[in-house]
Amino acid sequence: MAFGLLKGKRGIITGALNDQSIAWKVAELAHAEGAKFVLSNAPVAMRMGEINKLAETTGSSIIPADATNDSDLEKLFSGAQEQLGGKLDFVLHSIGMSPNVRKGRKYDDLNYDWYKQTLDISAMSFHRMLQTANKQDALAKNASVLALSYIAAQRVFPDYGDMADAKALLESIARSWGYRLGREKGVRVNTVSQSPTMTTAGAGIKGFDGFFGFAQQMSPLGNAPAVDCANYCISLFSDLTKYVTMQNLFHDGGFSSTGVTHEVMAHFMKEE
Ligand SMILES: NC(=O)c1ccc[n+]([C@@H]2O[C@H](COP(=O)([O-])OP(=O)(O)OC[C@H]3O[C@@H](n4cnc5c(N)ncnc54)[C@H](O)[C@@H]3O)[C@@H](O)[C@H]2O)c1
Repeated sequence: MAFGLLKGKRGIITGALNDQSIAWKVAELAHAEGAKFVLSNAPVAMRMGEINKLAETTGSSIIPADATNDSDLEKLFSGAQEQLGGKLDFVLHSIGMSPNVRKGRKYDDLNYDWYKQTLDISAMSFHRMLQTANKQDALAKNASVLALSYIAAQRVFPDYGDMADAKALLESIARSWGYRLGREKGVRVNTVSQSPTMTTAGAGIKGFDGFFGFAQQMSPLGNAPAVDCANYCISLFSDLTKYVTMQNLFHDGGFSSTGVTHEVMAHFMKEE
């Protein structure tokens, strides 16, 4: 059911790789809620061609941009304003990748060139996007900017590797920009910390089934599906959340506030 929550709003949605991607669901819902937006992903991800289908169903254009490349980002923000006919009301950063995690390098044996890439792709890219937007004065008053995070920023999940450090940096960047853009332009900047979700990025983590199953049993509501994460993002892009900024918002079925559940305890209790 659509409510017209984003009627007349313009935005940029990054990170829609395939129909499992959280960004893909955000794009579908943003379209249903009346938004106009540009889709973007790394040029290498475009080769798979999936994003063209999403562009067609949502009536969007695509501007490729490697999120670690400032000149690509400049073209993305100026091109989006030109194509959409004005400043942007929302931006989604849905980008993450760790070469160390992908190639099985553990946290105590990191390749430091890859570590830099992890931080650049998964966190600094958010700073780059905001800096570019700010320099171009591309964000409309009361615009809402979101990035997707994970609770490994606060707690240890051993196989999440250097992505944990990237998420901690990402959340800090949201606060730092949220302060500046809030004062200057009434713009809000937040991160949404999502449950483990079956996507290409999620499944790339060793032992993802274990992560997923454990979180499922540790969350009173169960793991939050991608589409519900997208619904939450839409609410944060809407005018219903104008005073929410500089927050890391857990969208995790209660996982982050749960010490233990009866399901998890049952694994350790001796039968009586
Ligand atoms: N899947 C999960 O369990 C989970 C949980 C919490 C948070 N997140 C976060 O959600 C976000 C989206 O991930 P997803 O799960 O939808 O997976 P996904 O694999 O569908 O999306 C990740 C996207 O990052 C893009 N990307 C990688 N390098 C890039 C670059 N240099 N420039 C531009 N784009 C680049 C990929 O092309 C892809 O579209 C990520 O930040 C991820 O860390 C995922």
